[in-house]
Amino acid sequence: MSQQTTVSAEQLRAQFGDMSLVAAMNHGREKRAYTHTFGCQQNEADTETIRGMLAEMGYQMTDSPEHADFILFNTCAVREHAEDRAFGNIGALSHLKKQRPDVIIALCGCMAQQEKNVEKIKKSYPQVSLLFGTHALWRFPSLLRRVLTGEKRVFDIGGADDIAEGLPLLRGEGPKAWLSIMYGCNNFCTYCIVPYVRGRERSRRPEEIEAELRELTREGYKDITLLGQNVNSYGKDLGLEIDFSDLLRRLNDVPGDFLLRFMTSHPKDASRKLIDTMAACSKVAKQLHLPVQSGSDAVLSRMNRRYTAGEYRELIRYAREEIPEIVLSSDIIVGFPGETEADFEETLRLTQEIEYDLLFTFLYSKRSGTPAASYEDPATSAEKQARFERLLRAQDEIVARRQAAYQGKTLRLLVDGESKNPDYPFTARTEGNLLVCVRGEDIVVGSFIEAEIEKTSLRCLYAQKR
Ligand code: 5AD
Ligand code: SF4
Repeated sequence: MSQQTTVSAEQLRAQFGDMSLVAAMNHGREKRAYTHTFGCQQNEADTETIRGMLAEMGYQMTDSPEHADFILFNTCAVREHAEDRAFGNIGALSHLKKQRPDVIIALCGCMAQQEKNVEKIKKSYPQVSLLFGTHALWRFPSLLRRVLTGEKRVFDIGGADDIAEGLPLLRGEGPKAWLSIMYGCNNFCTYCIVPYVRGRERSRRPEEIEAELRELTREGYKDITLLGQNVNSYGKDLGLEIDFSDLLRRLNDVPGDFLLRFMTSHPKDASRKLIDTMAACSKVAKQLHLPVQSGSDAVLSRMNRRYTAGEYRELIRYAREEIPEIVLSSDIIVGFPGETEADFEETLRLTQEIEYDLLFTFLYSKRSGTPAASYEDPATSAEKQARFERLLRAQDEIVARRQAAYQGKTLRLLVDGESKNPDYPFTARTEGNLLVCVRGEDIVVGSFIEAEIEKTSLRCLYAQKR
């Protein structure tokens, strides 16, 4: 069992107590905070926690960095492109800092957890006065307090693999909510930086998760996504008789009209039990995001994924047999070091066989510190780009076909917002999470409706409310 420290509500309140004093020091003027999130849903969930803490400290949220007293970038390190964008954004704020030296610019998240980036920020980005890593999230109020009370620059990337319960959360508008069930990752896929920046797997206790779900349903949230880097290994560190499927069953019993989704699943841990549980639980959406990464066994082995393409296909076959309406999605990395043309063809073949409804495709990005960074990588970027485009074209054809198959069907939808299309003024999601634009009388955001699909495109279904 791994070490797990739960940060107590007292520790948190002690920080906020201090913080409200600091907020009161602001000469009565309202303080505003702006946050920007890069990367995955986990980061979005972390930003909601930070916004919750900021609100608790007396900050108002603003959508404009120009009007903010506090600016925060929550960063992603999964691919180089995300890091470049974050550095670009911070760079662009140097003029703002010159005009308004009092503005506090802060950086957190996966990029901030890496020593090399900390050095770069220290040296070349003097406008950043606060930097904290993923492990220091719950200490944010006391770190900010240090900056507010005169410390020039505060950097904190220390901390253990804690779980902080009881942190405030400021969630976004609409019926969707993230619900973290575990943190960290133990898998060490050879291309991936996540285990280095988010630490080891640790699961929240089931009663804490259930209590948060009950709270969410009371607040009216209807589309709730359980989050973790690898939700299928939920519970392994708890020393309790509970796995992810058991947790799903327990949450499915919570009263109310809502949908439960989850991500991300790792194929090596996703089991028939999981599929059976999905089939049996009425509130669990019939949707599975199961990243395959590659269709070649040689590449999967070098990625340290610990399953074969055959095992993966078998699980998908079982899922389609048990849940014919299941919506399937996946992540694929093109151009992993040593990927040959033949390896790529296998990936292409697998995607054409499975026919995912949604595919997230990424060009391999070298992450220093990961094993794959030192693998031989003879393919040129032009070759990799050509493979990438072939995959996109093939997938577009599949999606067009799959979307068209919904024509004329009547589906249950959750209305989740307003659209920019005057003919179909609302957006909604199918149970499988496909995007739908809807029209009709008496449509209310946050409600479930029945609607008939009138036409389809690559990215959207168009429906008339029944
Ligand atoms: N390069 C490209 N894609 C990556 N991913 C993770 N690490 C890398 C990398 N170094 C992709 C994987 C993962 C998704 C979230 O990001 O496909 O499933
Ligand atoms: Fe990265 Fe693999 Fe962990 Fe996913 S399972 S976060 S890809 S190491």
